Amino acid sequence: MLCLGIESSCDESALALVKDGVLLSQTLNSQIDVHALFGGVVPELASREHGRSIPVLYDLLLQNSGVSPRDIDCIAVACGPGLLGSLLVGCAFAKGLALALDVPLIAVNHLHAHLLAAGLEHELSFPALGVLVSGGHTHIYLINSPTDFLLIGRSIDDAAGEAVDKFGKMLGLPYPAGRFIDEFGAGGRVKPSLFPRPYLDNNNLDFSFSGLKTSALSFLTDRPELRFKISEKTGRPELIKPEVGQELKDICASFMFAVADTLRVKAARALEQNTQSDIRSIILAGGVAANSTIRASFFSLCSEHGLEFIVASPALCTDNAAMVAYAGEVLFQHDLHSTLDFAAIARGQQVPNDYSKILR
Ligand code: KG4
Ligand code: ZN
Repeated sequence: MLCLGIESSCDESALALVKDGVLLSQTLNSQIDVHALFGGVVPELASREHGRSIPVLYDLLLQNSGVSPRDIDCIAVACGPGLLGSLLVGCAFAKGLALALDVPLIAVNHLHAHLLAAGLEHELSFPALGVLVSGGHTHIYLINSPTDFLLIGRSIDDAAGEAVDKFGKMLGLPYPAGRFIDEFGAGGRVKPSLFPRPYLDNNNLDFSFSGLKTSALSFLTDRPELRFKISEKTGRPELIKPEVGQELKDICASFMFAVADTLRVKAARALEQNTQSDIRSIILAGGVAANSTIRASFFSLCSEHGLEFIVASPALCTDNAAMVAYAGEVLFQHDLHSTLDFAAIARGQQVPNDYSKILR
């Protein structure tokens, strides 16, 4: 089965072809440069960029893969949660194409697609504890099967990625800053007392990262020498005062430790509270799951609990269309599809699980 996936929920326009669980080809237009100037994604600009690039990416995908539109068996599109205007562009394109090719359409929950993405590289084993850490969400799920997700914990304010990006912004780094903080922290020594691990002193599985942001702000306010400027020559961030190298590495490592350890503690608590679920693996997913500190922390958590650790390679952790095509293919294999009137779902709202059953 050949499934075309379309992703437009934030600032990446992406299309991919997945055949029987294998990624054939993908095309992507990152809007990072468009939004970097503004220190975050500008929704209106994002929608326009999707409208401009998706048809071009579709043409390019067919050219690169040698696939003919007639070979496409189904179309999967991320329907949310995300930026509404951006989602509408991808969904309208998908609906039009599904009508033109007369193939079934599958509206995919972007968050579920993140959690299934590793299925393109590893066998997934269920029941799984799913830990989704992205720019917009920090969620814990009990995943009983690829079509059965139960949300058991979530951030009550900022997502982990939002805190990481704001921390980067305070340092003068371009948006999204996660990859730079990862890179700079790699050579750093963790000082666990530098930043708090927030919202652990309770008995629940929720997160709150806004306090960590505030504590980073007060820490950095007195240290202007730690700020970056963007190099005119290379376009990369360079320190205003290069001699603070090791201190900055330690600060980045310590900040990521605070995030990673908070995630680890809540995931361990979720395992303790759900022993009856017979959890076999932890699936770590989302853009922030590309982070080396978080990956290492979850690797050891899984070893301690005798669980399989499942995480996609970093390129499949951040937004992409391969995960959407894969999730769509899985749903279609379970005889599920969407009717043409499905809606795009804005961030903060619940994506309905209202698939229709295909009668074969
Ligand atoms: O999943 P994603 O691509 O988009 C959303 O659905 O939100 O996640 C984007 C987030 C951003 O906050 C970005 O800074 C973060 O993922 N990120 C990282 C790394 N790579 C991307 N954070 C930490 N370390 C990384 N290596
Ligand atoms: Zn995402």
